[in-house]
Amino acid sequence: SSTKLLIKGGTVVNAHHQEVADVYVEDGIIVAVKPDLKVTDDVKVIDATGKFVMPGGIDPHTHLAMEFMGTETIDDFFSGQAAALAGGTTMHIDFVIPVNGSLIAGLESYEEKAKKSCMDYGFHMAITKFDDSVSRDMEIMVKEKGINSFKFFLAYKGSLMVNDELLLEGLKRCKSLGALAMVHAENGDAVFEGQKRMIQLGITGPEGHALSRPPLLEGEATARAIRLAGFVNTPLYVVHVMSIDAMEEIAKARKSGQRVVGEPVVSGLVLDDSGLWDSDFATASKFVMSPPIRAAGHNKVLQGALSNGVLQLVGTDHCVFNSTQKAFGIDDFRKIPNGVNGIEERMHLVWDTMVESGQISINDFVRVTSTECARVFNIYPRKGAIIAGSDADIIILNPNSSFEINARSHHSRTDTNVYEGRRGKVEVTIAGGRVVWENNELKVVPGSGKYIEMPPFNYLFSGIDKADASYLSSLNAPVKRSKSTT
Ligand code: URP
Ligand code: ZN
Ligand code: ZN
Ligand code: ZN
Repeated sequence: SSTKLLIKGGTVVNAHHQEVADVYVEDGIIVAVKPDLKVTDDVKVIDATGKFVMPGGIDPHTHLAMEFMGTETIDDFFSGQAAALAGGTTMHIDFVIPVNGSLIAGLESYEEKAKKSCMDYGFHMAITKFDDSVSRDMEIMVKEKGINSFKFFLAYKGSLMVNDELLLEGLKRCKSLGALAMVHAENGDAVFEGQKRMIQLGITGPEGHALSRPPLLEGEATARAIRLAGFVNTPLYVVHVMSIDAMEEIAKARKSGQRVVGEPVVSGLVLDDSGLWDSDFATASKFVMSPPIRAAGHNKVLQGALSNGVLQLVGTDHCVFNSTQKAFGIDDFRKIPNGVNGIEERMHLVWDTMVESGQISINDFVRVTSTECARVFNIYPRKGAIIAGSDADIIILNPNSSFEINARSHHSRTDTNVYEGRRGKVEVTIAGGRVVWENNELKVVPGSGKYIEMPPFNYLFSGIDKADASYLSSLNAPVKRSKSTT
């Protein structure tokens, strides 16, 4: 049985151009993108006149069914993905956490969790220790398991945090495998110190979370990770860029020619820390995530950095705990599970905040929510484009009507929403050629999501080792130490 679908009369928007055209889909694949396509009666037709037809969102940064801070995120691979689909995101990349340091055991556990998937997904892998067996397993991940990115946490001392020695080993290994190194950039030792200081001062509420880990600790770790990646001469992806301090380090590195990718997340782009200072614990604690949501002003500057290309693609860091779980930290902010929602709201909010304000074009919207993620993780143009041959992951956005975002109508399992009251405009979601969100109704099937393997970056790394000798000597420029032979 083949499902056939025609999306008629909309403005089809890709990262590179837009045109009024019909989109014909068969068996989950886009077959044709052309004006005035004629089809037979058995084809379901969706009228998109006056609306935008765009590639489904790809969220590069989520945590579904993650065990973290003594509990587990309340959205699993089904509820989190259902929420994503209701908000126009059709693929996400989740972080596998090793089990007792074992990558293989970690992956097996995530493969199990992902069996109920109702949309396509990929994996990054966290690296929490480094030895010969981790090094071997990293190769298995890249060559056999479709994972091309590894994340290093420079924060969460005592659990996920790695030191500089481990980071260096990891960066070298990523480079030799053609994998992309990712970093959570906060100085975990200093955060630990800051937390102790707050408790000593009697500051135990959620505001202590922000006060204990200021922007300068994010700037320091971002700079350090960038320098070490530069020293190893391998690309670096900085996740959840939350502060001006971190953004400026990325800008400086990119200006000097270093390959650094910067990922802002929706919370950092659209919120400020005012909620964290609410005197009501339940209100304040829902905004606790790491790095913290910053004081007003950082968000505006991060929006600018997204519009001028210093930052390239938007994630969510969707990592959701309900108010009962957040209340674990009622007497001590260090015990509030870190994380906010966003997987359902990302597309709406990037549109609302960036496009409607004129900061980015409609094509740029597609680029930062979908295409760039597909490119960075090497799955373009299967994903991230509406062109013949691509997967039929498509959304329809209506610029002329909107609805309210709130915890009563959202599809996440959590009972709060940090974007309460904001507006959304995605009306229809098509995933793998099936209409899964239409007329405010979800039609999702557990088990229908596919695992998307992400191949290593041979194009990035070819020749890089040969270039190393000259690269390392260029780090010492302009002083030339070698003897002249003339
Ligand atoms: O607070 C956050 N960000 N929770 C998820 C884990 C991480 O650091 O990405
Ligand atoms: Zn085109
Ligand atoms: Zn992180
Ligand atoms: Zn995260």
